[in-house]
Amino acid sequence: MKNLVLLGFMGSGKTTVGRLAAAELEMRFVDMDHLIEEKEGATILEIFAGQGEPVFREIEARAVAELSAQTGLVIATGGGVALRASNLETLKNNGVLVHLHVDAETAHARTKRSAHRPLLQGDDSLKKIRSLLAQRQPLYETVPNQVNTVGRNAQAVCGDVIRIYRSSGT
Ligand code: S3P
Repeated sequence: MKNLVLLGFMGSGKTTVGRLAAAELEMRFVDMDHLIEEKEGATILEIFAGQGEPVFREIEARAVAELSAQTGLVIATGGGVALRASNLETLKNNGVLVHLHVDAETAHARTKRSAHRPLLQGDDSLKKIRSLLAQRQPLYETVPNQVNTVGRNAQAVCGDVIRIYRSSGT
């Protein structure tokens, strides 16, 4: 059984939708950021602050490889996993990849009350979101399956994700 892999920007709903989908499909849910925090014994904020983003991206690529060696998982990736084409190729070997689309305003509304994302810290997080999203949009568009989350609740998004997974012949 292939993995179901959710990709998308911060605030696209990967974790919320992933949990719902895993419950419905009776598959194990794995949040990649949580896995990294457990393995490293440090929060994502601490890894960024202490070791820097390039080291975090290496750790993240190792987590991608490790999870892609397993089957039957619903994986909520970190928002930056699509920055490396090699991550997407690795995940595709053994997974159905779905991009959860979000726009900057919605991502901002969904993330503004949480303080655990290093890339959105400080003033004017909406501006940061706009700039990062503009850079990443072309990468997210390379994901084979696309689901819009703007103006939709997690159950509706989850329904689309499950239809995609089931129709992928896994
Ligand atoms: C990041 C997204 C975060 C986390 C890290 C970097 C990114 O995950 O991996 O803060 O580069 O978009 P979420 O998308 O789960 O917030």
